[in-house]
Amino acid sequence: MRRPFVAGNWKMHKTLAEARELMAGLRAGSDADWKVTVAVCPPYQLLFPMGREIDKTPIKLGAQNVHCQPQGAFTGEVSPAMLIDCKCDYVIIGHSERRQQFGETEELLARKIRAAMEAGLDVIYCVGELLEHREAGDTEKVVAKQLDGALASDVDASRLTIAYEPVWAIGTGKTASPAQAQEVHAFIRGRLAEIFDQATAEAIIIQYGGSVKPNNAKELLSCPDVDGALVGGACLVADDFLAIIRAAHETGS
Ligand code: PGA
Repeated sequence: MRRPFVAGNWKMHKTLAEARELMAGLRAGSDADWKVTVAVCPPYQLLFPMGREIDKTPIKLGAQNVHCQPQGAFTGEVSPAMLIDCKCDYVIIGHSERRQQFGETEELLARKIRAAMEAGLDVIYCVGELLEHREAGDTEKVVAKQLDGALASDVDASRLTIAYEPVWAIGTGKTASPAQAQEVHAFIRGRLAEIFDQATAEAIIIQYGGSVKPNNAKELLSCPDVDGALVGGACLVADDFLAIIRAAHETGS
């Protein structure tokens, strides 16, 4: 059985004082018996102090991006080893905001995935279609290209999580219906079986992301191929994030 995995993508939010307040709330509500893996993914400047904040809690740390080179003259970038240094276990790669606003291509994302895994990071690789793709009936075509373009059979699947995030549902309050999410998740698992093999695909966690909130988490997480959530807006409020974690815990029980 796949252990549910809920990650919070803080995006470009929180100063140090605000982050400490959020973490105090999460620590107070955390439970060593959670049947769910939980990670927070703050912006770079908070990784080192948040690495200390999560000490002795069941909460893991992740970053939102990483460079594909181990070191060098890459002004403004951060390497996989630097993330490990900050106590990161995870890194989000290929978020739609990075694809759209920073021009990240599958060819680049493939290199980031390999570099992160080689350094010892687990990767949350994001895929998802734009509204125009969905309306044109191209969702599966787009998602297949995103998977095929960045993954291959020699990628370490034991370090891989997929996040399906329909771009039209991110930060918009519009969520994919459980049926829409399940349909694409099942498609993704089938594609992963082609890239790796059936047993490997069955073991890979596929998170849903896009306006996951306390009031819709349970029905989304109850879908057979929805194994967790990548949460944006709702992870910035401790009580909301904890409510989503508890919904995942219940599906993992
Ligand atoms: P949202 O963001 O929950 O605010 O829609 C999700 C994400 O972008 O990962």
